Amino acid sequence: MNMKKMTAVLLAGAMTMAMGASAVMAEGEVEAIKAAGKVVMTTNAEFEPFEFKDGEEIVGIDVEIAKKIAEKLGVELEITDIAFDSLIPSLNAGKADFIAAGMTATDERRKNVDFSDDYFNASQTIITAIDGEVKSRADLEGKIVGVQQGTTGDIYCTNEDGSSDISVAEVRRYPKGMDAVSDLLAGRVDAVVIDDFPAKKLVEKNADKIMTLDEAMTEETYAIAVPLGSDLTEVVNEVIKELNESGEMDKIVSAYISDGTDEAAEEEASSDAA
Ligand code: ARG
Repeated sequence: MNMKKMTAVLLAGAMTMAMGASAVMAEGEVEAIKAAGKVVMTTNAEFEPFEFKDGEEIVGIDVEIAKKIAEKLGVELEITDIAFDSLIPSLNAGKADFIAAGMTATDERRKNVDFSDDYFNASQTIITAIDGEVKSRADLEGKIVGVQQGTTGDIYCTNEDGSSDISVAEVRRYPKGMDAVSDLLAGRVDAVVIDDFPAKKLVEKNADKIMTLDEAMTEETYAIAVPLGSDLTEVVNEVIKELNESGEMDKIVSAYISDGTDEAAEEEASSDAA
């Protein structure tokens, strides 16, 4: 072993002690997961149809994808449910192996995590009261907007980096998209900005009072996040590719989009998948 290598090994050892084992094991993560016999997905299960609670169980499109990842690795799947803005810190603290949370792959987040290939095209949608003042995207100017804390909807409306063409009067941040919608129903905010499919699910439940606008706020894509440098990315990409090529991804998505609580549709998706 030459001097350079030895320094590298010593450094790695020191980093292991400083950061905790799993954070630096990123490169051999797949091996570590197989040895542990389980893979840990972290999410925020307030995002139907991607992840939500059906009784005690967490279900949704992302969970179906995660099950395939676990299957590919030959291990059990464990899911932890935490606040959306804690997902990246939790992953980087070594508390989970990947994030599957309808997470938009943004350059800002790429500083802290690696993203898999995209698996879903989404947009930020505006929800307004049917009898309210917001009738178009431009009407958000000067309005009070509700968002889920730490999401791209929050980032875009807050406009810290000045990249948004709209300047709202105030952004109210909620732990759950559902709470933002409750405040919209109560007239405390003028609009809610949230991802398109969750928006549809939220509106469905109160279709007599609120609606989504056709005009989207932004376009984005979802990907699965893994620790920087993790070899798990390749496994995740393989699974996404296989699901896309076999047509299974479409089946999973349509089963949850038609009606996430419809057990018949979910069963159909899993039996078709088999
Ligand atoms: N796509 C948005 C983002 O990445 C919102 C995701 C919210 N996901 C959730 N599971 N609550 O910021």
